[in-house]
Amino acid sequence: MNEKQIIEYPSVQEMDDDQRIGIVKDIFASVTDKYDFLNRFLSLRRDVAWRKRTVSEMKFFNTNRFLDVATGTGDLALNCANTYPDVSVVGVDFVQEMVNNGLKKVESQNLNNRVKLKWGDATNIEYKDNSFDVTAIAFGIRNIPDKQKALSEMKRVIVDDGQVMVLELTTPEPGFWRNTYSFYLNGVLPKLAKWFTKNPAAYEYLADSIMNFPTRKEFVELMESRGLKNCKAIPLTFGVCTLYIGEK
Ligand SMILES: C[S@@+](CC[C@H](N)C(=O)[O-])C[C@H]1O[C@@H](n2cnc3c(N)ncnc32)[C@H](O)[C@@H]1O
Repeated sequence: MNEKQIIEYPSVQEMDDDQRIGIVKDIFASVTDKYDFLNRFLSLRRDVAWRKRTVSEMKFFNTNRFLDVATGTGDLALNCANTYPDVSVVGVDFVQEMVNNGLKKVESQNLNNRVKLKWGDATNIEYKDNSFDVTAIAFGIRNIPDKQKALSEMKRVIVDDGQVMVLELTTPEPGFWRNTYSFYLNGVLPKLAKWFTKNPAAYEYLADSIMNFPTRKEFVELMESRGLKNCKAIPLTFGVCTLYIGEK
């Protein structure tokens, strides 16, 4: 990408599904090098705590296998492998640049024997039914237009009583924290991102996609509509992030 080129994306409500998928691929391919740094910096390292909490809720009881969907640079996959030494982990993502960065981290942590990262699409998962105990998607479902398909695919590949987990940025309930967060997302974050990335529009898209994400209640209903049981939403850090868990 040319450094002087100014990129603008339409708002989430104006995009059609194919256009959105193209924009998401473009965004993650363009921010890959700074992705981990910006995650830590812009979330004040809360992203690390949120993934850790997700991993602490996982239950391995049958296959001892975990699938990380939209794995990006592999942080959730690596956290799981480091927490559960007997578990084998697969991570898939449809932006190869993100996967490549993840593979370097797998290598540097000597986890090649238990962590496999590869290209894969959340809406068409290549694994057979009942292949994993747990599958999770961290900060990925927001970018997927066909959320029903992704959730159905995640449910399909886990065993009965296995878990589908979704970790996603959400908005706090209306009030002081929601207003503060909205100001941060729309006013501060894109300006901060401008200093560090060639594609600050990516962070305008981020704000837009968070504000347009279903409410907690709506998302739990979406999970239930896919046939998941015992669905619950755990708000994290004043509700700026939510961990959703459902079982097959
Ligand atoms: C915000 S990043 C999150 C990465 C990682 N899970 C984490 O916790 O940092 C979102 C990722 O979702 C991926 N993604 C979006 N839609 C996808 C799809 N349909 N299939 C696979 N990956 C997808 C993007 O390529 C990107 O790497």
